[in-house]
Order: sequence, then structure tokens, then C-alpha cells
Amino acid sequence: TEETLVLIKPDGVARGLTGAILARIEAKGYALVDIRLVEPDRARLERHYAEHEGKPFYEPLLEFMMSGPSVAIRLAGNRVIEGFRSLAGTTDPTTAAPGTIRGDFGRDWGLKVQQNLVHGSDSPESAGRELGIWFS
Ligand code: GTP
Ligand code: MG
Repeated sequence: TEETLVLIKPDGVARGLTGAILARIEAKGYALVDIRLVEPDRARLERHYAEHEGKPFYEPLLEFMMSGPSVAIRLAGNRVIEGFRSLAGTTDPTTAAPGTIRGDFGRDWGLKVQQNLVHGSDSPESAGRELGIWFS
């Protein structure tokens, strides 16, 4: 088994989609090992998004992530890192496939790319690092 960090980002929480997103995660059979509502400060987000520092969307991304609480989930399952990213869909909700969280719930207009509802770690190294940031 494997663990990953999933975040339901501020847009997902604000839009009341926490339950709908959790339902998909549970239907897939993944195990909720830990779950908490978090209002991250800038320092935590700078660590989480260190790889994106300097990119044009970095500041708007941090501002967005500080706009309200996120739900942080320590999620376990067989190949859950790859599997959750598959459930989430591609980064931009405008073109994410139907059947995915981003594809089904992402709005197709008035949307910023950073407002894509969820985050999932992209490798075992990222998962270990990010779980330490959100569950310390
Ligand atoms: P995460 O699971 O959130 O890490 O998404 P990802 O792996 O699909 O995307 P990536 O790690 O490349 O980017 C992290 C986050 O930055 C994305 O989830 C978006 O919220 C945001 N982001 C990425 N690319 C863009 C972009 O081109 N424009 C804007 N506005 N935001 C972006
Ligand atoms: Mg990423």
C-alpha cells in the first residue's frame, strides 16, 4: 500500500463539494488515514509549492490557497498516488475529462486555472514531503 496527500482546495470547500469529492475517494476504496480542515499560512504554502516559485501563477496560487480553508487528507491505497491523480483529472478543469473531479465539477468559465478543486501528490517523494508539511 501507499500514501498520498490530497487537498480539497478552497474553491472545493467554499462550493460545498467536500462531501461529493470524499464520496468519489471512498467509492474507489481508498482509506482515510487522517483528515483535517487547515487554513495554511504563507510559510506552509511556500514549502508546499516550492517547485513553482518564480512562475507567473505562483503569487495568485498562494493568494488563492490563503483565501479560505482546505481539507487535507492522508489517503492510503494500492497505487493511490497515480490513482488519485487519475480521479482528479488534468490540471486545467476546462479540458479535464468528464468522469474526473476536475472535469465534472470544474467550471468552464470565470475560472482561474489554480481553482481546480483538488491537489494530489505526484510521486512517492512528493507525498512524503507534502504529508510532512500538512500533517506535522
Ligand atoms: P496539483 O495536484 O495541485 O499539484 O496539480 P498539478 O500537479 O496538476 O499541477 P502543477 O503541480 O503543475 O501546479 C500546481 C497548481 O498550480 C495547479 O493545481 C494549479 O492550481 C496551479 N497552476 C498550474 N499551472 C497553472 C497555470 O498555468 N495557471 C494558473 N493560474 N495556475 C496554474
Ligand atoms: Mg503538482
